[in-house]
Amino acid sequence: MQQKAALNPDAHWMDLAMRLSWFTAPTQALNTSGLWFEGGKLNACYNAVDRHLEMRGDQLALIWQGEAADEKRELTYRALHQEVCRMANVLLQCGVKEGDRVAIHLPAIAEGVIAMLACARIGAIHVVLFGGFSAEAIADRIADADAKLIITADVGRRGPKRVPFKKTIDAALTHLSPDQVETILVMSVTHEDVPMQEGRDHLLAPLITAAPDTLPCVTRDANDPLFLLYTSGSTGKPKGIVHGTGGYLTWASFTQNVVFDHREGDVFWCTADLGWITGHSYVAYGPLCNGGTILIYEGMPSYPDPGQWWRVIEKYRVTSFYTSPTAIRALMREGDDVPGASDLNSLRVLGSVGEPISREAWEWFYRVIGRNRCHLVDTWWQTETGGIMISPVPGIIEGEPSAATLPLPGIDAVLLGPDGQECENEAEGVLCMRRPWPGRALSIWRNDELFQKIYLAPYPGYYFTGDGARRDGNGHYWITGRVDDVINVSGHRIGSAEIEDVLADDRDIAECAAIGIPHSLKGQAVVVFIVPKNATRADMLPEHARQIVSRRIGRYAVPEHIYVVDDLPKTRSGKNVRRLLRKIASGEKEGFGDLSTLSDPDCIERLLDATPM
Ligand code: WT7
Repeated sequence: MQQKAALNPDAHWMDLAMRLSWFTAPTQALNTSGLWFEGGKLNACYNAVDRHLEMRGDQLALIWQGEAADEKRELTYRALHQEVCRMANVLLQCGVKEGDRVAIHLPAIAEGVIAMLACARIGAIHVVLFGGFSAEAIADRIADADAKLIITADVGRRGPKRVPFKKTIDAALTHLSPDQVETILVMSVTHEDVPMQEGRDHLLAPLITAAPDTLPCVTRDANDPLFLLYTSGSTGKPKGIVHGTGGYLTWASFTQNVVFDHREGDVFWCTADLGWITGHSYVAYGPLCNGGTILIYEGMPSYPDPGQWWRVIEKYRVTSFYTSPTAIRALMREGDDVPGASDLNSLRVLGSVGEPISREAWEWFYRVIGRNRCHLVDTWWQTETGGIMISPVPGIIEGEPSAATLPLPGIDAVLLGPDGQECENEAEGVLCMRRPWPGRALSIWRNDELFQKIYLAPYPGYYFTGDGARRDGNGHYWITGRVDDVINVSGHRIGSAEIEDVLADDRDIAECAAIGIPHSLKGQAVVVFIVPKNATRADMLPEHARQIVSRRIGRYAVPEHIYVVDDLPKTRSGKNVRRLLRKIASGEKEGFGDLSTLSDPDCIERLLDATPM
């Protein structure tokens, strides 16, 4: 496949596209306008559900498990089809039309996937919003996407905690124009009383029960948007990444198949929240397009005790388990006896994604969970790439600790040096993609100019990933981390500028800078340096700043440490020197290099005296 992709990329991409069911097959892969499979017509829900009805209608498509053993739900492909049709009919009754954006803000319950597929079925564009976003963050995204309908829950559960989904949505609405959101559909999870506004808010369950369980799929063009997903970058507000239908689905479906060595009867458990791209590509679309059985578990790794996840694997004979280094690190701390108590023999492929995995965590995952007999794939990719790009392939390219290894067939990764020239052989540089691939995002919602500027303009002729990487003597890639100002906390992407912007709006803050430093559990932690406007109120600032970040972005972005200082190190042209701030926040006392380019070199001495709060 690698050879075919190199010799005749178009034929390779067409082969992959033909793994899907098309209403009208495309006649070419990439056209001169840069569009994939143009002319092809299909429906993503048809590919995830309907195409399996004949062959495996009675096979399980979706298993949902709650924290308590008796809280579970099992849907065959036939049952999933009916549920999706009902939900799609409800959306139509609510006036949703093809091309409309529907926001989905739900806990990890089956309705999340059902709602996504229902949107796809009627050609509505889903916008899944992560459960950890604050009301203001949700409001920003709803306004940007111009969503008129929201699907949410009464209250979610996170271990012992309760998460007020509906209340958060109500709070988000106070930041929006009153005619923005017309309908809110509320799934009852805990059945607690939540405020419902007459005419606008409806309980979802009775509507679903009453709705017909059949509905034909609409026909979508290959380049019609399937979904928007908001993600952070190095500049400004989160961007609505737009994924198309034909190219995205081709890539999600192919990569799930090849990277997880998908086989008939597989039970695929990806622990990601549906609100991230991993949830889109590897909880929902990828494994369902391949006819797999997906598992959704609503619960945290170590609650009610650290053996919970391993018992879930044993109970459902999970074959493929895809999670994050953050979860692995947390579970590793509990010791080897905990997973040792469960039968994990059903596992065949383990996967890691979202952040660099250390050698120690890789080896523990391989040895203690995989019992030295499973494939372990460290998969590198991004929201914007739609699916896995660089990864081992079980039985062909074996994993090695901390290496993403080789690009998948057709993926043309390169490393660029400081002047933008391509590096040969063993090298370290900025990771870029030379040739296009079908999973790449189409654009940024209503801002194609920004898309061009962020991803295509930095190195003309290449897609810029924002990551650095090293290539070893075997041509294997080792991801070294972001080269831009993006911080990765527990696999959650946070832009420095996003934090700085919300803080700089505050009247007590004159200036600030956000950086990431290594953290043993979270991978990275956010550290913020603040220059107060009014020195007499400086004591209050750390707490105040944490509240601002929590309120405007979400708790996941709240800084670990805050330094209140009287100045920030700046170049003479006034740019913050983050390199120095990173060193100071990491506890380094020397080795700051040449400080003569700073507008005030003495500032470093004063910063070294500051204590974090
Ligand atoms: C960024 C993308 C891809 C889905 C989850 C995150 C980092 C991702 C790896 C890996 C080292 C990784 C990169 C990338 N990243 N996978 N296997 N090894 N770093 O998606 O939120 O779009 O974040 O996550 O820095 O650019 P995302």
